[in-house]
Amino acid sequence: MRYAKFSAEELEVTRHGMWQDYLPLLYDFLELKDGQKILDVGCGSGAYTRLLAARVKGQIIGADIDDEVLKAARKLGKAYGIQFVKHDVYALGFPDDYFDLVTCQMLLSNLEKPARALREMIRVTKSRGLVAAIEPYNSGVISYLGEEPELAELANLLHRAMDGREADIKALGGDLSIGPKLPTLFYRAGLRDVDVRGYLMVNFAGRFGQKRTAYELNRVKESVERGWLSQASYERILELFRSSKPNPGAIQALPLFITKGRKA
Ligand SMILES: C[S@@+](CC[C@H](N)C(=O)[O-])C[C@H]1O[C@@H](n2cnc3c(N)ncnc32)[C@H](O)[C@@H]1O
Repeated sequence: MRYAKFSAEELEVTRHGMWQDYLPLLYDFLELKDGQKILDVGCGSGAYTRLLAARVKGQIIGADIDDEVLKAARKLGKAYGIQFVKHDVYALGFPDDYFDLVTCQMLLSNLEKPARALREMIRVTKSRGLVAAIEPYNSGVISYLGEEPELAELANLLHRAMDGREADIKALGGDLSIGPKLPTLFYRAGLRDVDVRGYLMVNFAGRFGQKRTAYELNRVKESVERGWLSQASYERILELFRSSKPNPGAIQALPLFITKGRKA
């Protein structure tokens, strides 16, 4: 099985603070309650699984196909009592009608057959239970660093790093703009009471200056390792990061959609 590989380091950096403005919305939307059995599929390093475990005293399981991220997830999730197991979303090794909530964050956008994955997620969900997915709309990314020529150059180079990641996922059949398509996908899969919320994951320099830089540099480093960006561009980016004055108005925002549906 071929899939886009993510390092635990990248996942932890990019998920840091991702939900901080939206936790009440998330918890309320997912109808979380103590005692529930919850599965987070494609859990990666477990950043989202830990958010669920922090709210619910129940049985929380994270599943992923990749051994390396699972190893990191077990270490990072030790204090939360989460169980992390290796499963392929297309063949989840759980009985029918088992979980109160089956959820994923940035998984369906990585897959060649999201509708098939969704069917398998629905199979292991209890009748009247919920399936919920958080997925991006990359076509709507808003990026503004500033009008100074060196900042415009930096924004351009950073975009190229992101385009490389997107092309890699596309080549594997993924769709990083799947977010707004999910309500239809959910409805067609037989889910009912389908509901959706959209929000912007905002990196605003005035607020997240340090974190934002770490996030961008991490992504850029990986882009060079994967051959999406040349070493010369990488060095230019480092130079621009070092020499540019921080712009307190800089913003980068990614639209995300969270969709849920109830099993009949
Ligand atoms: C973009 S990461 C998201 C990780 C995590 N949900 C988060 O938001 O931090 C996608 C994850 O899906 C996993 N994955 C890809 N294909 C999979 C499959 N067929 N079954 C289970 N997990 C899969 C990858 O290993 C990776 O950890």
